Amino acid sequence: MDPQALEDEARSAIGGAATLDELDETRVRYLGRKSDLKQALRQVRDRESGMALNAAREAIEESIEARRTELERAELDRSLREEQVDVTLPGPLLERLEGLQPRPLTRGHLHLVTQVRREVEDIFLGMGYEIVDGREVETTRYLFDALNMPPNHPTRSPQQTFYLDEDTVLRSETSPSQIHTMESRKPPVFMVSLGRCYRRDTPDATHVPIFHQVEGLAVDRGITLADLKGTLLHLLRALFGEERDARFVTHFFPFTEPSLEALVSCFLCDGSGCATCRWSGWIEIGGSGMVDPNVLRFVGYDPEEVSGFAFGWGLERIALLRHGLPDMRDLWHNDLRFLRQF
Ligand code: DAH
Repeated sequence: MDPQALEDEARSAIGGAATLDELDETRVRYLGRKSDLKQALRQVRDRESGMALNAAREAIEESIEARRTELERAELDRSLREEQVDVTLPGPLLERLEGLQPRPLTRGHLHLVTQVRREVEDIFLGMGYEIVDGREVETTRYLFDALNMPPNHPTRSPQQTFYLDEDTVLRSETSPSQIHTMESRKPPVFMVSLGRCYRRDTPDATHVPIFHQVEGLAVDRGITLADLKGTLLHLLRALFGEERDARFVTHFFPFTEPSLEALVSCFLCDGSGCATCRWSGWIEIGGSGMVDPNVLRFVGYDPEEVSGFAFGWGLERIALLRHGLPDMRDLWHNDLRFLRQF
């Protein structure tokens, strides 16, 4: 056996191996237990031919390792090149790159309640109001005490309000944002605050346990009930159409005196009577009133100096009414077939 000839032959076979599998076959052929080289090594008798054969074996081993590195490198390059997925590409572009028939790119839009929220914000920005962020997690002091609710008021019950601990709650209304705002500045205050509220309600057509409200507050010298009515009539007309009329009926809230429920003339039947307005021609929208002197005193305002009005309306209710929808739960099932309609 000629070690040099064997080495040359092995080198060219190794160079010709195009894949790691082929390289493995080549290794078995030249270095395996049954290879010519291993057989020759077993039979070697003199030191010189032993050294020559071992040198050939080492050279072949090195050559195989060098080729293995090359092939692995090439394999890595190939997979990086061919299998790359840019997860930031929009689906249809990705499909085109992969040679698939691209599906049309559809555009999303804002959720119906978000649309109403932004619209209400715009209406109040247009009147010079400030938009204030509230807190979803509140203390009982801000949710109840500051809002003039007596210790035995039913909303304080854990049956109605979610308690995180004895004096920490998920807010059941946006009204505490009035208190935070007044505490942080002197009058005049003209603010709206919109956001999520939580109540331990069983879901039905008109209740969901997580819902949204818009809270409004105006405090200044000489604010009267006429300001409340004018502002809310403007809001109702901006939301439901310029032909709308408003009515206010007395109500009760601990934090306003007097308290009023705002009604809008029915935009479905125009007042002649239909199922939505329960044949009355009027639809209830939400609560409002003149800020109770106790609330003003709580934040250090002097009720002899300033007065104010406030209101708190549900955004889901506005959204449902505007589209004549029957069930509040539909808004939050996140069924695209429903949501796409708006
Ligand atoms: N917080 C009341 C509720 O959730 C709504 C409300 C009524 C807010 C009158 C007000 C208001 O600011 O003046 O039922």
